[in-house]
Amino acid sequence: MSKAKIGVLVSGGGTNLQALIDAQTAGKLPSGEIALVIANNADAYALTRAKNAGIPTAVVLKKDCGSQEAFETALMDMLNKNGIDLIVLAGFMAILSERFTKSYPRRIINVHPSLIPSFCGKGFYGLHVHEAALAYGVKVTGATVHFVNEIPDGGEIILQKAVAIRKNDTPETLQKRVMRLAEWKILPAAAELVCREIITERTGD
Ligand code: GAR
Repeated sequence: MSKAKIGVLVSGGGTNLQALIDAQTAGKLPSGEIALVIANNADAYALTRAKNAGIPTAVVLKKDCGSQEAFETALMDMLNKNGIDLIVLAGFMAILSERFTKSYPRRIINVHPSLIPSFCGKGFYGLHVHEAALAYGVKVTGATVHFVNEIPDGGEIILQKAVAIRKNDTPETLQKRVMRLAEWKILPAAAELVCREIITERTGD
């Protein structure tokens, strides 16, 4: 039975991409295969991680495309040409339009570093999410993997994992712990769940 082809969209360090690669190596992603990594930033270290793992890479820059629409068309062309079944946003710091998200219903997933619906939506990304959680004074935070629709961080939740906040946490220490204890676990697990669903639909089982 052929595996679902995964395209991973990245912008930065790519530790979540690494978690997917490590899961694949460990046999924990049996229904999927990471087939392409696309960055919207030529300096993203995620590109090096992909190359080290022998995964094809591409860079698509919005400034070269001229508009958000042209940028998304370039992404879609690349994803479609490579036969990508599942798009994983792994630290992809760009909001995608309704035209893009509606083209892939239940076929785009995103990892977000909080327990949605807390600390999510426009402006909540990366370290800012952890700054906001600490400023609010919540005692528990975590990570969420969800389907992507036209509402930023508003699609159906697939998996969540809670992480306790410690008294002396800084945004940086909290970010690292949320990644290690939550994101790097639930992202590969959710990717496997959706890939299995894709394969099942394909074979009509
Ligand atoms: C991760 O914490 C991810 O959850 C977050 O950016 C970081 C990327 O790290 N994504 C968002 O905030 C999206 N709203 P990585 O490049 O090392 O995976």
